[in-house]
Order: sequence, then C-alpha cells, then structure tokens
Amino acid sequence: MKILCFGSLNLDKVYSVTHFVRAGETLSSTKMQEFCGGKGLNQSVALARAGAETYHAGCVGQADGEPLLAMLRSSGVDTTLVRMLPCPSGHAIIQVNEQGQNCILLYGGANQEVTKEQIDAVLEQFQPGDMLVLQNEINNLPYLMETAGKKGMEIVLNPSPMNDAILKLPLEYVRYFILNEVEARDLCAEEGPEEAFADKLLRRFPNSKIVLTLGSKGSIYVDQKQRVIQPAYRVEAVDTTAAGDTFTGYFLAGIAGGMDVKAALQQAAKAAAIAVSRKGAAPSIPTLEETQAFR
Ligand code: RIB
Repeated sequence: MKILCFGSLNLDKVYSVTHFVRAGETLSSTKMQEFCGGKGLNQSVALARAGAETYHAGCVGQADGEPLLAMLRSSGVDTTLVRMLPCPSGHAIIQVNEQGQNCILLYGGANQEVTKEQIDAVLEQFQPGDMLVLQNEINNLPYLMETAGKKGMEIVLNPSPMNDAILKLPLEYVRYFILNEVEARDLCAEEGPEEAFADKLLRRFPNSKIVLTLGSKGSIYVDQKQRVIQPAYRVEAVDTTAAGDTFTGYFLAGIAGGMDVKAALQQAAKAAAIAVSRKGAAPSIPTLEETQAFR
C-alpha cells in the first residue's frame, strides 16, 4: 500500500521562553533555533522513518523551500509531488516553555496555494486502497477529501489545528480519525470526561476507527470490534512539538505494514516518547531502530 501525505511544510522558528508571552507583555527569549516542521511534513517524516512507502504532496516557496524538501528526502520520502511556487513557504513561530510545552502561531504561505488541478494530478498517481493522510494546514481540503474518497482511498484525518472548517468537511469519507482530547471535544460538540470522547466519536462515525491521544495519559483506539488502551511512556519532556505527528506516522506505518492495533499503538507511543525528549519538530522524530531499542 502506498501512503500519500498531502499536507503542510513549515519553517519553524522555535523560541525558548520562561513562560508564554502574555497580552501586552514584551518578553525576551533565551534561545532561538530553526527547524523543519509543519504537521504534514512531520507526519511524512515519521511514516517514512517507520518504514512506510511515503509520498508527500503540497507546496513550498521557490526561494526558501529547499531545506524542507531536503529533510523529506533524507528521511526517505518521495517529494516529486511537491510544487515550488513564487511565494514564501509556510512558517510557524513556536514558544517552548521550561516544562517543554509549546504554543504555535502559523503563517500559511505556500501551504494555502494548493489548487484543484494539483489535487487532480496528484491523486491520479494513486489507487483505491492507498492511504491518504490529511491535517488542517492546507487549503482546498473539502475537494481533496471528496475526490480521494470517491476514488476509494483510505482517508486518515488528523483535524489539527481544529477550527470550524473541519466541521464542514465531508467527514463521512474518513476511515481513521487521529486526534487529541481538545479536537475530539470540538468534533463531538459535547462536554464530558476526555476518555469518553473516543466512544462518542465512534457513535457519531460508526464506520470509522478512532485513535484518541491523551498526552501523558496515553491513547485509546476504538472501532466496532475492539477497544485498545495504550499507556504513554514516561520521559522528561524537553519539547512536545511534533510528538502527536510522530505518533500518527508511526501508528499508520504499523497498520499499513500489517501490525495489529495493539502493536502499532505501542510502537507509536515509544516513538512519541522519544520525540518529546528531543528539541524541534522533524529532527526530533526517531528512526525505527531507535524506536525498537527504546525501553
Ligand atoms: O505539530 C507540530 C507542527 O505544528 C510544527 O512543526 C508547526 O510547524 C505546526 O505546523
């Protein structure tokens, strides 16, 4: 099975701070580093490092996009479906506090220049049964989902960042939802204990498979036949950026490679734990060997 990740590529500027800057405050950061990121790029890197046959589609800027393509290629991702455009690449301003938590400000740039013609040309390269992995950092998602869904591709949606546009997507085409508790609450439009959101989502989307990530509390998988709980591995958090993307890529690569859900979740939890213990987005994503060696 081929896996197509059609998503964002960002240049991340990461500022180390004592606390997140507040309204009206001017705050000096203690360090600034630049990394390759974007939820799409991070998930492609994780998929490929986990051993999946991965293709990335999306858009970057002609002047500043080469490092993003180089990061994908060096991880084993096919980048021939990424367009280079005469505009800036997407970027993210990321604050990381002393607890390793982050907050992220996005500028879409080239990520918001995806055309229907590009979508048609990319999807022509794939067959029914191939997997399409999506996040919410590119434009024209409704058309992309509808066209791929009608073609019979297995659609995976990570509805991040969550906003009202997600609720208007043709969600009936989604085979796997991979989401955190905040995204699940918004999608359910209900309150309640966060562990319950996986079952609530399954009631709403009975033909889908739900993977709910709960940070340090682990993850829950549900479909019509099984419910699997995976605890998180305890590590000292340095930077949580891309931990969710690492989990997503490793879980899907496991499933595509024939693992059962329990084994795929365990592999994903190990990879995410390693990513949390390292700085940056894409560079923090471990190799398969590192993941298998993790204790
Ligand atoms: O999920 C982490 C990613 O979110 C960062 O790399 C940043 O670019 C934003 O897309």
